[in-house]
Amino acid sequence: MTRGKRAVDQPARTADGTETDAMTGGSNLRGLGDLPMMPPLVGANWGSFADEIFSRDYQGPRRLSDKSIGVYRNSDLRSLMTISAVDSVPAPVFSHPISETIGANAEGWESFLTNNIFTMLPPLRAPVRQILARQLTPGQIVKYQALADRVAREILAETMRPSVMDFQDAYAGRVTARFWRCVIGLNEREEEALRNLPEQILLGFGNEVTPDEARTADQAAGEYMEVLSSAILRECRHGRNQMLSEMAAEFAEIDLHDKPKDLGHMLASNILDGSHTVKVAISNAVYCLLESPDAKEELDADPTLIRNAVRESLRLYSPAASVRYCSADVLHGDIRLPEGTLVLMLWPVGNRDPEVFADPSRFDLHRPLRQAAPFGGGAHVCPGRNITAMLTEAVLRMWIDDRLRITLDGPVEWDPVPSMSRLKQLPVTIKPYQ
Ligand code: HEM
Repeated sequence: MTRGKRAVDQPARTADGTETDAMTGGSNLRGLGDLPMMPPLVGANWGSFADEIFSRDYQGPRRLSDKSIGVYRNSDLRSLMTISAVDSVPAPVFSHPISETIGANAEGWESFLTNNIFTMLPPLRAPVRQILARQLTPGQIVKYQALADRVAREILAETMRPSVMDFQDAYAGRVTARFWRCVIGLNEREEEALRNLPEQILLGFGNEVTPDEARTADQAAGEYMEVLSSAILRECRHGRNQMLSEMAAEFAEIDLHDKPKDLGHMLASNILDGSHTVKVAISNAVYCLLESPDAKEELDADPTLIRNAVRESLRLYSPAASVRYCSADVLHGDIRLPEGTLVLMLWPVGNRDPEVFADPSRFDLHRPLRQAAPFGGGAHVCPGRNITAMLTEAVLRMWIDDRLRITLDGPVEWDPVPSMSRLKQLPVTIKPYQ
């Protein structure tokens, strides 16, 4: 595909991206009002959205509203992701619309948001993030490899039936919830809360949240936080879970007045990111291979390519966009982003940028992926990226090692949620090797 002339070239900014007086003295800066509007995102299928937007002449950031922009070009994403002033979105910026919509304090929603690293600002964010990130490095998670393999098979045995099933909810969602159940020490009811409530909580992140959706999101968040945080604190008290004991010790060391209430609330909120999105990653990876029988054949012949398959599926169908917030004025190229600007980081689109990825809609097991960023980047890069890859690889390995016959059994449709790249459902039949 050919690309039009770039309207934005190399960014000129200070080391951390904040604007200086010398910069504002320049006369040719553009403000948010000068940017062209973003085409509608609701209902967008990221594949066709990327094809369409990358065929236009103008390729820079686009305006979403008076206070927000959307960024989709790979080089813009990679430049903005490292700027320290393009930071987390403070909880009140997320929360207020929900409270306003339901006309009351949204306590459950606020408990979920204020305990989430996504909403934490310096100096709190780094030490809290570190508690989670330290447990999820490649070296640490090796110990969960056998568990991931076992859970992939256990859930298959529980769900396999001769008829069509929705692979996403009936299988992938169960795998992620069961995995976290074993890691944390949850009981059956708590596993169910982890599996079922995130879907309702995510309604609160929709574009135009209705009062019913806001109430549902608030109630689900309240129940989720209560069930999961109590479970985590119970397991901490037992002292039998090394990961939780290490986390609790680090949590106790943080001496900042706005730190989360306790480790239970902090971990509960952040594990939600890890449960729902991983379900989508697993389902998207399986869908990629169902769509690309040649690649599946290659994988059958050489299972060492499983890692490539997972990374390429995360590029092609990146599960998540994310939002950042300008905590100070930022200069990006010739665009001035005032403090308070919301920046929608469209990773699923940037990972299909034809300037970086040749034939971007093709699933290619041998593609160089250095510039793919399905997990964001910079200081905010997703701490759950390694565990996501491990769980997704476990499912593909089971498919190949056990020579299962998984076939697509019905049409698929992408969910019209602007921040996710997920199928409404993935109807498949799974048969054992005969
Ligand atoms: C398919 C799976 C996942 C995807 C696609 C994903 C994607 C992302 C993205 C795009 C960001 C924003 C990065 C940025 O702004 O530069 C992020 C941040 C984050 N993710 Fe994930 N994530 C996944 C799984 C997980 C898991 C398994 C966990 C936890 C166990 C997790 C926890 C977090 C947290 C806490 C942040 C905030 C980091 C910060 O602001 O410092 N995610 N993730």
